[in-house]
Amino acid sequence: SLPRKDAFDKLLGVSKYVDDLVFPEMVHIFTVRSQYAYGKLIKVDKEEAEKMPGVLGVVTYEQIPGVNEIPLILKDEPFLAHDYVRFYGEPIALVVAETYEQAQNAAAFVKVEVEPLKPVLSIRESLEKDSPELFNNPTWGKNVFAHYQIIKGDAEEAMKNAVHIYEREYETPYQEHAYLETNGAVAVPGIEGSMTLYGTMQCPTYVHDAVADAIGVDRNKIRVIQTTTGGGFGGKEDFPSVVAGEAAIVAKIFNRPAKLVYKRDEDILGSSKRHPGLIQMKVGTDENGKIIAAQINYYMDGGAYATITNLVLWRGTVHALGPYECENITIMGNGMATNKVPCGAYRGFGSPQTIFAAETLMDEIAADLNIDPIELRRRNCYKLGSKTSTGQVLDQSCGLMETIEKAEEQSGWKAKWAKPAEKKGNIRKGIGVSLVYYGVGLGANGKKIDRAGSSITIEKDGSVMCAIGNVEMGQGARTVLAQITADAIGCKYENIHILEIDNALVPDSGPTVASRTTFMSGNSLMLAAKELRPNILESAAILFGVTADEVEVADGKAFLKKDPNGKTFTFPEVCMNLYLERLKPCAYGWFKAPTTDFDFNETGQGDAYFCYSFCTNIAEVEVDMDTGTYKVTKITMAHDMGKAINPQQVEGQIEGGTLQGMGYGTTEEIRHDANGKMLNSSFSTYILPTILDAPELNPIIVEHPYDKGPYGAKGLGEVPLMGVAPAVVNAIYNATGKRIRSIPAKPEKILGLDK
Ligand code: MTE
Ligand code: MOS
Repeated sequence: SLPRKDAFDKLLGVSKYVDDLVFPEMVHIFTVRSQYAYGKLIKVDKEEAEKMPGVLGVVTYEQIPGVNEIPLILKDEPFLAHDYVRFYGEPIALVVAETYEQAQNAAAFVKVEVEPLKPVLSIRESLEKDSPELFNNPTWGKNVFAHYQIIKGDAEEAMKNAVHIYEREYETPYQEHAYLETNGAVAVPGIEGSMTLYGTMQCPTYVHDAVADAIGVDRNKIRVIQTTTGGGFGGKEDFPSVVAGEAAIVAKIFNRPAKLVYKRDEDILGSSKRHPGLIQMKVGTDENGKIIAAQINYYMDGGAYATITNLVLWRGTVHALGPYECENITIMGNGMATNKVPCGAYRGFGSPQTIFAAETLMDEIAADLNIDPIELRRRNCYKLGSKTSTGQVLDQSCGLMETIEKAEEQSGWKAKWAKPAEKKGNIRKGIGVSLVYYGVGLGANGKKIDRAGSSITIEKDGSVMCAIGNVEMGQGARTVLAQITADAIGCKYENIHILEIDNALVPDSGPTVASRTTFMSGNSLMLAAKELRPNILESAAILFGVTADEVEVADGKAFLKKDPNGKTFTFPEVCMNLYLERLKPCAYGWFKAPTTDFDFNETGQGDAYFCYSFCTNIAEVEVDMDTGTYKVTKITMAHDMGKAINPQQVEGQIEGGTLQGMGYGTTEEIRHDANGKMLNSSFSTYILPTILDAPELNPIIVEHPYDKGPYGAKGLGEVPLMGVAPAVVNAIYNATGKRIRSIPAKPEKILGLDK
């Protein structure tokens, strides 16, 4: 648990976030947005706005130097609307002025003429036979952005043999990332048509692609530098492509540095969120509650453009049944088009929705069969050697049972759990459980981009400079990767400095998502270190006058293997000698994710992810039966992440993610009016848990190492959020006997006044 690399800059306020950057001659941008959820864009009249003080111009789609397509999976989204507007808040024009205020003031004078059309505002509307066609998928039909299916055994046939059948429908809301720093970018024109982008982001490589396309230049002319990022949580996976692309368009047109930074309301209104979900579950069990058949339909509200719905849907579909053995499964996943803000990644990536459904249903089955909810899960859950929904054998690193045992024991479950019918009084206590499994990395659907590079350079003074391709966004990557590198090289943690993330230093290392950084960048750093080690050892051997196999270099010093407590040389002495002996002081690591595979056409069977992390959450609540209000009093979270490289940071990730999961289950939702206008794009109306709502949190580390992970590590970043909502909702049921099938679990639902 070494201290964070980025802690002091952040504590002292010296970190430079993108809005802190100022360049000479820099112009400011304000976005003119659609006031309709759906309509034909007839005309944009800029004349009056362009006469306003300080205004340099108003940019619309026809001025874009490159192509008006954001390069994500389907390329259906424009940087600036051209023929249609497809959601309330969609960017139409960019007002460019000397100051932000001048740009903002002038924006009100841009006249946008739209011929409104009837919008599609929900998954159900999108599915209707006579709904407007917003998108046509040549294979899957109207309004379907993406479809995945998993067909294992014969679920329909097996359902006939079920003793008990449970059929339920669950709904989940939007979730806003609420990172402290809003989206923003600064584009700075450079020599010979080049452009440097500074921005808050998770995926420099996506920004690289987007900017190159937006301004129509080769990739070798685009430099992307990630500024200190005040949180991402998935919300800065695809969206920075929009902001950076637009800033670059303006910088290119006016040949001046250009800044585009969102205020909070714009950010909530216009940037991606967690997809709302509709999940239809049908599960059949034998007389003991053992699952024998499952049929699941999962629909996601993708919003107006496909962005990365495809990838998000795939993860949610693969994980839809939860970590439970079953030989007969049919899962259908569909990402639907609507006229609302495009959705994207949010911690958990399409699976918190299905986990809510699966874990609530498990609780419903346990209640119906009169079985302790933990016992029911134990009977069904994955153990070493189990086969997943996609037929993958879990042949190592499966610590799920141990997480159940630890969480059960440390929460005092046995003493606290009693049937709802036995609860009396106005304030009732309840306890609920959920299990989670999580495929680490991009999996088979992203295997072509699941690689990571890094470089290590040893300096003469024994300090070490590293370049990596994945980012720090608060999760602790700089710290954990520095720890891994120091250990692998044999120097001290203090000697490691990781450069700011810059695509000029490391090629496309894939996105910083899917909890893949420790594993992917960690492994690539270890490969680079492995290449350097012989030179370090040789330098030390020369100092000792022995052969390389007789020396060891570890923890910042060199010593003789046969005499570890004898004479030593310091790491700086070894490094100076390395240079004097002209041994190569730098190395490059390139890591490819282990093999995955998946039948995308028919069955959805295969090794979907190279490994899985696991967790058990146990939540406790106290409900006021008169008002339906409640407090989450305690959550116990036991996680198997393979190996905790920095246990304190691991606990921090578990605690933070758990609070986000609690918000998802209890208070967070986005509302729209009948025309599709978002009603609560502010922190006063979008209700997040604060520190005052935080329950007692008990994070528990369980380590079942994965043999290909750095020191056995798998991935952790997202897992803490994913199963908290159902644990809380199950605890509410346990307290009250009231089953909630749509989150957030608001008091009116507990009182039965709302579904
Ligand atoms: N923790 C903090 N503090 N800030 C973040 O933005 N993002 C989460 C998680 N934890 C996030 C965070 C998400 S969505 C992911 S995918 C992982 O961190 C990514 O980090 P990792 O790859 O290092 O696990
Ligand atoms: Mo995380 S949702 O994979 O950025």
